[in-house]
Amino acid sequence: MLQDKIKQFTAEIKGFTPASVVDVENFRLKFLVAKGIVKALFEEFKTVSAEEKRTLGKILNEFKQLAEQTYSHAQEQFADTEKKTQREEGDLTLPGEGFQLGSRHPLSLVRKEIVEIFKKLGFIVTEGPEIEDDWHNFSALNFPPEHPARDMQDTFFVEKKDGNDIALRTHTSSVQVRLMEMGKPPFRAIMPGRVYRNEAISARAHCFFHQVEGLYVDENVSFADLKQTLFHFVQELYGKDTKVRFRPSYFPFTEPSAEMDISCTICKGAGCQLCKQSGWVEILGCGMVDPNVLENCGIDSKIYSGFAFGMGIERITNLKYEIRDLRLFSENDVRFLSQFETELV
Ligand code: PHE
Repeated sequence: MLQDKIKQFTAEIKGFTPASVVDVENFRLKFLVAKGIVKALFEEFKTVSAEEKRTLGKILNEFKQLAEQTYSHAQEQFADTEKKTQREEGDLTLPGEGFQLGSRHPLSLVRKEIVEIFKKLGFIVTEGPEIEDDWHNFSALNFPPEHPARDMQDTFFVEKKDGNDIALRTHTSSVQVRLMEMGKPPFRAIMPGRVYRNEAISARAHCFFHQVEGLYVDENVSFADLKQTLFHFVQELYGKDTKVRFRPSYFPFTEPSAEMDISCTICKGAGCQLCKQSGWVEILGCGMVDPNVLENCGIDSKIYSGFAFGMGIERITNLKYEIRDLRLFSENDVRFLSQFETELV
């Protein structure tokens, strides 16, 4: 009887081919635990005759070893595959690893803000080439031939061509010319973009920077429209308590021309280092488009008038975030850039 059972279970164990760890565990539960088959057969062994014990003792011990070895081999086999799948798929139960978010460049943030404000007033965004010809950058804009901006010391020339030199644009006013040449008034557009000037790099000057210029041309556009538009703009950008003032100035392409100051964003007008104790900081140039410029672009200056303005995005950004060194904008120092992470929009 006992011998038959041993034979039967030996056959079962030899045919054991586990498909998973569950099978291995079931094997252990069936054969190797305190109430399992191996123990049961040893119990039964105690009841057989002394003669049988002599032959069966050896067989039973071999059976026990077979059960234990089969179990430990099966365990090893699955321990291996488990490790492998862990390696291939990773441990799906572990918490995820956080990844570092990038951030927008402060100049992009501020440009976007400026664009949004003017978009709400009906201005569209237009762009033009950074490599520009003399006509669009200077001549159409009423720059006299001997104007200092046409000097190598102020402008990066790419190619000297008789009468129509090619240069890196010094302002995005060139885009205004391109826009006016292309169509008919009314025009209501802003021109964001990078511009270049031949300056030594320092905390306060750089050989390239960014501008947003704007143009509005229609019938009956007045200086009052200019003032109200720009007043609205700074109130949106810097808050309702921001004051403005206009000072007469000169640009070849506008007449009259002005520079606009706002009450200092740091000291609110009380006087500080940034505003040199004056309470005011300059933020943009503006004026009524010179009739010559309109005519140069094929627009009848007796019917149409317009205003234009231009600001440096760096300057606007410096005032907003109190940044003191222009070089920070182009050095790509993550310690600087990551401070704008929370401003991701
Ligand atoms: N183009 C001028 C500059 O680069 C800014 C400006 C634009 C001034 C339009 C008046 C009108 O400084």
